[in-house]
Amino acid sequence: MVKVAPSILSADFARLGDEVRKVEEAGADWVHVDVMDGLFVPNITIGPDVIKALRPHANIPFDVHLMIERPERYIDRFADSGADFITVHVESTHDIPRALKEIRHQGKRPGISLNPETPFAMVEPFLPDVDLLLIMTVQPGFGGQSFKPEVLPKIVRASDIRKETGARFEIEIDGGVNRDTGKKCAEAGATVLAAGSAIFKARDIRAEIALWHGY
Ligand code: DX5
Ligand code: ZN
Repeated sequence: MVKVAPSILSADFARLGDEVRKVEEAGADWVHVDVMDGLFVPNITIGPDVIKALRPHANIPFDVHLMIERPERYIDRFADSGADFITVHVESTHDIPRALKEIRHQGKRPGISLNPETPFAMVEPFLPDVDLLLIMTVQPGFGGQSFKPEVLPKIVRASDIRKETGARFEIEIDGGVNRDTGKKCAEAGATVLAAGSAIFKARDIRAEIALWHGY
């Protein structure tokens, strides 16, 4: 069963506690939290203090997606906020090994992410050290963009590596995921679907998540 991780980027920011509770009650597996610094991406969202305030409002894992420059500077802050998975972008620092090691050291689950135009080979060396590979299917920064189908071969490649090596890292897809593109991702080997608009704007969130669980 594919897991569903609603991205609170599309939630009502004035009522975030209620919003995470709502998706948990509707059957979400994880909460996807998009952290942006205005440097790595041209948008600014929330930081560790907001995540910490949200943590008591849900029991499911917090999947924290760091779209920030040199994330190794802030790993302890995000670990302390109650994040479960902490994902860094391969393009965001020259010291990925240090960032991943620090996440482990803090007792959290490390993830690595790559932008749509970044070659898969950039993340391959780090796959033995991560619990999550987050494959971007839009340019990060904003919700509501269109899925880039040309990224699908990366999902197949990741899935093949998982099978060949017996590795257990999750393959999560992020950007433009809806009921149609999400099905294609699941068929290509995705294990987690992150989605903002398609979940938060669904007429019946519970039914939408249940449908995706069937992929
Ligand atoms: C984009 C974020 C995504 C975003 C996805 O930079 O990483 O998690 O919330 O939004 P949708 O699902 O609307 O494309
Ligand atoms: Zn994200």
